[in-house]
Amino acid sequence: MEQHLLGTDFQNPVLLAAGTCGFGQEVSEVVELDRLGGLVTKSVTLEPREGNPAPRVAEFRGGMVNSVGLANPGARAVRDRRLPWLRDRIRRARVLVSVAGHTPEEFVEVIRILDDADGFHAFELNLSCPNDTRRGGLPFALDPAEAARVVEGAREATQRPLVAKLAPNTPDLAPVIQAVEEAGADGFTLVNTLPGLVLDPETGRPALGAGAGGMSGPALRAVGVHAVWRARSCTRLPLLGVGGIARGPDAAQYLLAGASLVQIGSASFWDPRTPGRVVNWLKGYLGRQGAGGLTELVGSARIPGSSPPTPDSR
Ligand SMILES: Cc1cc2nc3c(=O)[nH]c(=O)nc-3n(C[C@H](O)[C@H](O)[C@H](O)COP(=O)(O)O)c2cc1C
Repeated sequence: MEQHLLGTDFQNPVLLAAGTCGFGQEVSEVVELDRLGGLVTKSVTLEPREGNPAPRVAEFRGGMVNSVGLANPGARAVRDRRLPWLRDRIRRARVLVSVAGHTPEEFVEVIRILDDADGFHAFELNLSCPNDTRRGGLPFALDPAEAARVVEGAREATQRPLVAKLAPNTPDLAPVIQAVEEAGADGFTLVNTLPGLVLDPETGRPALGAGAGGMSGPALRAVGVHAVWRARSCTRLPLLGVGGIARGPDAAQYLLAGASLVQIGSASFWDPRTPGRVVNWLKGYLGRQGAGGLTELVGSARIPGSSPPTPDSR
């Protein structure tokens, strides 16, 4: 079940997704974090953010929408109060700190504040938040040149691995993947939420306080698996697949499409035992497949008309 990538070993390929497990401590009573491959923290911004008006999440039949508005305590408080908990309490799971900002310069400042601290291994750059309205709602990931500026700045600011988290709502992932890889990224997470709107038909009002939000859960799964498969054909860097994973077979689809690791978000709100169950299911699955290891399985889907490159393990 081990995976070697981003310069470290993940004991298994299942991580908790950004924004759905706080900074680990919030879920530590209900999730045994050290049984997992790792976790990605809530996105950290330069200044503390209060977030958007309630309600911030709303369910619908295919999943949920959220507009949390990147509520977080800000980079300095994360360094002083959240990373020490992770350093002292997490032994085997790997921690990625998610970073967000309104400008490329803000990303760099957050990284400079956090970089000297212990308690985490890599940065995940949230280039794809659909709820940050400052840029007119256009995430960096939909603008390859701007996305590359963020990664270039980040690359100069840290030696740690940089994973770029991309958005699903682009007609073609190839230009942003190429630009971000050239700028120095070490891997990609695919996908963030899709823009979504849930309305109350009686009142005509949106279910979320902020109006529209980001859609996640089962309805996102086929989009995410497709994005991983598409990305696999344009880069050899490792991929982390996320979107709609609620059961082991969902995670297996991401691995077959080319993801070396998977992340679980919404499903752990519905049942915090989900990530542990996915780990157990994947163990049995690997045995049944007779695969020598997970690496053999990654990207092994047989999809007509495509022969993706195999991922680098760095
Ligand atoms: C309530 C909520 C908050 C989220 N916050 C963040 C965040 O801070 N940063 C980020 O990169 N993604 C964030 N996400 C997106 C998730 O990390 C993930 O990409 C998305 O939910 C798809 O996975 P899922 O279908 O398993 O939930 C958030 C998702 C939810 C549901």
